[in-house]
Amino acid sequence: MSTAKNSSLKKITTHRLREMKERGEKISMLTAYDFSTARILDASGIDVLLVGDSASNVMAGHETTLPITLDQMIYHASSVIRAVDRALVVVDLPFGSYQGNSKEALNSAIRIMKEAEAHSIKIEGGSEIKESIARIISAGIPVMGHLGLTPQSIYQFGTYTVRAKEEEEAAKLLEDARLLEQLGCFAIVLEKVPAKLAKKVAEQLSIPVIGIGAGDVDGQVLVVNDMLGITKDFSPRFLRRYADLNKIIGEAVGNYVKDVKSGDFPNEDESY
Ligand code: KIV
Repeated sequence: MSTAKNSSLKKITTHRLREMKERGEKISMLTAYDFSTARILDASGIDVLLVGDSASNVMAGHETTLPITLDQMIYHASSVIRAVDRALVVVDLPFGSYQGNSKEALNSAIRIMKEAEAHSIKIEGGSEIKESIARIISAGIPVMGHLGLTPQSIYQFGTYTVRAKEEEEAAKLLEDARLLEQLGCFAIVLEKVPAKLAKKVAEQLSIPVIGIGAGDVDGQVLVVNDMLGITKDFSPRFLRRYADLNKIIGEAVGNYVKDVKSGDFPNEDESY
């Protein structure tokens, strides 16, 4: 695989995302955690790559996003950054790296920008972390917000079901979204909320709203392992599978095992 960079491509910036919203062009976003996959996604025209803390689930096999550390996120992020020519790379601040206070949050964001050479960070939460968001943005670091189902709070929610179905939670979400825009976030992810509410948020904000299980908003994000059908045990309603890599990889590996066992591989042409 070539690792050469193509520097002639027009890079996606936070400003370009805003322009895309203004002209009604939808934003495509996927997660990425490693160099080889990120290279394919970037070359395929993805606008935004999210080094999500979902790496905790799909890369490391944990049940939740809580165990992944800042050092591990930096490792994944630096691998993705090295692969990318065009996409904007957003990196999640993992659980425990920002909740203490705004100085801790800023230090964690700085480590991601400096050590992984990331383009921006994402952080879960609304008014309760407003000082942290303001402090990170005032240091010149672009911030993407994340509201609705925020998986780092799963033990507080108790379930992964749709959030903000009730009026009170919906009103708080709308208020938080407006606050994130006022604080200077360049975009917001809305996860698993009613489509009608998400549409209202997208209409009221001038920054892009990217949805996952949030209906038709300014853009969409999916976990790459889910949409490629590598993971099989996760089938929420919002997930569209674009490939069945589980089957393709399984068949390829099965054939390899068969050929090795039978002595068919390697043949003369494949030997020195
Ligand atoms: O970590 C992640 O993959 C995410 C997306 C689900 C938005 O935050």
